[in-house]
Amino acid sequence: MAQLIPVEEFDLVIFGGTGDLSMRKLLPAMYHRDRAGQITAGSRIIATGRAQMSQEAYLQEVEAALRTNLDEGEFTDEQWQIFSPRIHYVQCDALAVDSWQDLKAVLQGFEQRIRVSYLATPPSLFGPIAAGLRHNELITPDSRIVLEKPVGRDFASAQDINTQVGECFPENQIYRIDHYLGKETVQNLLALRFANSMFEPMWRRSAIDHVQITVAEDLGVGGRIEFYDRIGAMRDMVQNHILQLVCLTAMEAPASLDHDAVRDEKIKVLRALRPIGGDFVRTNTVRGQYTDGAIKGQTVSGYMSELGEKQSSTETFVALKLEIDNWRWSNVPFYVRTGKRLKTKHSEIVVQFQDVPHSIFPEQKFNINPNRLSIRLQPDEGVKLSVMVKEPGPGGFDLRPVSLDLSFEETFGLRYPDAYERLLMEVLRGNPALFMRRDEVEAAWHWVDQVISGWEASNQKVENYVAGSWGPTAASLLLDRDGREWYADV
Ligand code: BG6
Repeated sequence: MAQLIPVEEFDLVIFGGTGDLSMRKLLPAMYHRDRAGQITAGSRIIATGRAQMSQEAYLQEVEAALRTNLDEGEFTDEQWQIFSPRIHYVQCDALAVDSWQDLKAVLQGFEQRIRVSYLATPPSLFGPIAAGLRHNELITPDSRIVLEKPVGRDFASAQDINTQVGECFPENQIYRIDHYLGKETVQNLLALRFANSMFEPMWRRSAIDHVQITVAEDLGVGGRIEFYDRIGAMRDMVQNHILQLVCLTAMEAPASLDHDAVRDEKIKVLRALRPIGGDFVRTNTVRGQYTDGAIKGQTVSGYMSELGEKQSSTETFVALKLEIDNWRWSNVPFYVRTGKRLKTKHSEIVVQFQDVPHSIFPEQKFNINPNRLSIRLQPDEGVKLSVMVKEPGPGGFDLRPVSLDLSFEETFGLRYPDAYERLLMEVLRGNPALFMRRDEVEAAWHWVDQVISGWEASNQKVENYVAGSWGPTAASLLLDRDGREWYADV
């Protein structure tokens, strides 16, 4: 069982403290860590927002959010009595020069402890908030700043933000979050690859046919539709989560778990991604948008109806065929897809090995499935290896695929901490390994930008898909053309 080490006393200042991310993820995550005994007495969570709100009113909102977002039985009055005194609401409009006084007053005298400023705000505020912290002399030697994704909306804006924040904080104090890096199974991918010797000789073009990455959601865009309509799935999911999964699957073994050693290997993958431009935009990419449909028996509206009367060509689904131009992965395509309002919530990395080179079972020639290693991220984290076996019986020689299935929950019988719990603790401990470095974020934008420019140049339209399906037909054709198909083990 992993050991729980309490973190040193800290002040966590959340900008955007009344927002959705704080209520749904950050405060529940801190509540869980407090409940687990990881938060030292005296540590404070200082939530800031533009709204004038009393401490009581804010605490009522937090309590309601915790009751909604925690699982049954996790909210208890006893724990709330311990957790709520840590929370302080302070009004602060980061863009108003004279609005920082209250925050300054609350932080004064606490310069010696760890101070984390978490920017759960739109990226356009990252630069101004960093500058405000500096101007108001709130950056202490042990300060860290956390930037929520997305950092910018393209390469140029990401560079601007990174430069602005970089003028106030050194790179080793900047933590750019991609919450997928805090997911247990994503970390298990490192364990699987680098704590087992059997995979490495096979983890390459000589043994692997292709890799598939699916991040499917059954939810729509909900209350974020205005924001989402300006960005779409490519910027929301591919630039960060999907490319990070590609990097962790494809990277070479780092020399150590040191944060720069891992990030140096990841960036090599980003730089080896073949640009998708010109005609390849049409052949290697699919954009989709959901229409009215049904999910798990419930009818759901299409994206356009959710948006009102407005017309929109924003994609809610993307499928791509990626090529990594290096020795290990030459000619091994990585097919990735992600979308909203798909059949079910299901995220998985599937590594498909090659066909047997010669079958000694003539009658079974076409029944031998290639081995597949599936690393499931959600909903039920685990690893599965499909192998061919002989069906039991006295006569004949019938082959069939079976799975060696490891469900982490069944094996360890533990509650899986949310990604934000781990990531917040890593920030407080000062360990940036699970966060993105400036060059990584910019390299990812650089690659994504040229796909988006290709879409714009060729006017590539969004293909409709019925909510509750697995996406547009064009996404199936993307693999069908290569004689392959998507797997979704649900
Ligand atoms: C966020 C995206 O980063 O990840 C959301 O902005 C998406 O649109 C979410 O729903 C998915 O996260 P998870 O952990 O539920 O897979």
